[in-house]
Amino acid sequence: LAGKIFSITVALFALGIIVLPNTVTLFVGQHYWYNLTETGNNVPCEKCHADVHSELSLSGIHLRMSCEGCHRTDNAVKYAVDWSGDVEPGRGAHAASTVECMLCHDGRTIASGTNFTHYYLSASSCSQCHNPPSNIAGAAGGFNLTVDSDDTGELAAHLKFVNEAIEDSLMEGANEACIACHTAAAVKLNWTHARTYEFNVVLEDPYINDYGLHSWTFSDTAYNGSANVITWGNTTGSGSTTYTSDWPGNIDGIYS
Ligand code: HEC
Ligand code: HEC
Ligand code: HEC
Ligand code: HEC
Ligand code: HEC
Repeated sequence: LAGKIFSITVALFALGIIVLPNTVTLFVGQHYWYNLTETGNNVPCEKCHADVHSELSLSGIHLRMSCEGCHRTDNAVKYAVDWSGDVEPGRGAHAASTVECMLCHDGRTIASGTNFTHYYLSASSCSQCHNPPSNIAGAAGGFNLTVDSDDTGELAAHLKFVNEAIEDSLMEGANEACIACHTAAAVKLNWTHARTYEFNVVLEDPYINDYGLHSWTFSDTAYNGSANVITWGNTTGSGSTTYTSDWPGNIDGIYS
């Protein structure tokens, strides 16, 4: 019996050691505070967004840039900051905002009077983006979105893709289009193609040359019907499609 009481006491004592400290501090580290008085962002974003951090560190682009370089540099936003005692509580956003790629890729080089602000960046961060010093983000020209007045986007094959992305509220600005092309995010598209061509060919003013009869007028080009095709691309850039033998213009075997 004495042995039993002894072991119960030991068990309770052990329980006390494990349970009691937990009632004092719920989480380990709960009372270590990040020091916010240095310049820049001192709250480690990667603590919760380790996946994003890992993808960036494996990327060839934006490799040296820290999270706040993009997510705390929108001039229209006032973020929370304690810059050596100069405290700003945050208005448009507290820790971070969603941003447009075009915040930096609009071809601007002057920091004032634009939509990019350096105010919330650490004093030692300069080489993340300016390396060599005069080299800022290259302009994503050809969509009529840069400061270059000759940039009309007139002949851009993907102007509509970009403009529709700007209209779409899923992401900021044209981001849906920029990310679809420039990152390894998988993309699935539902295309609607026309099924057939139609046009009129009329014999006009017949004459015979070395190759035979040659005078046809070709007019009223149109298309008929629609066929839906799904294409998708995976993260390595390989593509696939649903074309099968029921494709209307099927020539035996080419799409199967
Ligand atoms: C304690 C965890 C935590 C920390 C630290 C943290 N985040 Fe987040 N973040 C979240 C959670 C949870 C969400 C999703 C819920 C939400 O949108 O509020 C999120 C969402 C986001 C989004 C997406 C918002 C959207 O609308 O798509 C961005 C961008 C972001 N965080 C950036 C940052 C940056 C930059 C930092 C560092 C300054 C940071 N986060 C620090 C937890 C965290
Ligand atoms: C905060 C500014 C900033 C934002 C926002 C930004 N970038 Fe960049 N980007 C840069 C800088 C600076 C470089 C050049 C240095 C580097 O690669 O890190 C760059 C480089 C690039 C390059 C390589 C250009 C080349 O000449 O090889 C591409 C492509 C690119 N960015 C696309 C994007 C896309 C797509 C987005 C949105 C998802 C985006 N960027 C958002 C600043 C930015
Ligand atoms: C080159 C600029 C750039 C850098 C650097 C960057 N981001 Fe982003 N991030 C973006 C853009 C652009 C989006 C898309 C915003 C939108 O339109 O919704 C985004 C989206 C996000 C989202 C929401 C989507 C998701 O993937 O969950 C989170 C969270 C996020 N970023 C966190 C981070 C963190 C954490 C870091 C640092 C490790 C970081 N970002 C660095 C540009 C950047
Ligand atoms: C996250 C990326 C980023 C970081 C970090 C950064 N800059 Fe910039 N810087 C930019 C961008 C983008 C512009 C162009 C702004 C605009 O007008 O859209 C710019 C513009 C400038 C300009 C004006 C350039 C010119 O040709 O007139 C100066 C000067 C400058 N930065 C200095 C600095 C200094 C100093 C630091 C370090 C404290 C720094 N930058 C850190 C992205 C960055
Ligand atoms: C249809 C696909 C597509 C879309 C949409 C697209 N890009 Fe590009 N982008 C490209 C291609 C292709 C290149 C040239 C790549 C090469 O040189 O190999 C390029 C080049 C670039 C460069 C390098 C230019 C330079 O001066 O170094 C940047 C930066 C860039 N794109 C950013 C963006 C941004 C930001 C968006 C969104 C507004 C965007 N792109 C939309 C395909 C696309």
